[in-house]
Amino acid sequence: MAEPELRVLLVCLGNICRSPAAHGVLVHQLAQAGLAGRVAVDSAGTGDWHVGRPPDPRMLSAAQQRGYDLSPLRARQVCAADFDEYDYILAMDNSNLVDLRALAGASRAHIALFLSFGDTALREVPDPYYGGDEGFVEVLELVEAGSRGLIARLKQDLPA
Ligand code: 4NP
Repeated sequence: MAEPELRVLLVCLGNICRSPAAHGVLVHQLAQAGLAGRVAVDSAGTGDWHVGRPPDPRMLSAAQQRGYDLSPLRARQVCAADFDEYDYILAMDNSNLVDLRALAGASRAHIALFLSFGDTALREVPDPYYGGDEGFVEVLELVEAGSRGLIARLKQDLPA
């Protein structure tokens, strides 16, 4: 299999709710678009509290109900090498974006909000961790729309 041509890292605070959801949804949509082998996807958290753990059970369950299997994912923390390896490093909210920019150094990666490529009313994916089940459904709806917008952008970067 050829090397991926683009690398995308999706980042939230804990890497157990929002960025794993975005990870699973983006991988699913890339496969549907015939781009599975051309774009590498990973996710990470700015924090280290949940490193090594699977996604939050509420996120796993909400994702499963929409057809996404997040169970193989394990949390990891953003590291310095990410800023050399990834072309796009995309934050779920403005706080994550500020933290990423502080770590970025001279990175040539495109560091932005994940929802900045689509047409969602929100520009940030709200943190569902301390809320009810409906927050996890909202995360999935937002990252589905965000992934569509991001894929349209990635297609512009990929040679036909
Ligand atoms: P995430 O959600 O950033 O979407 O993974 C959170 C997960 C854990 C915590 C906060 C947000 N926490 O405070 O432990």
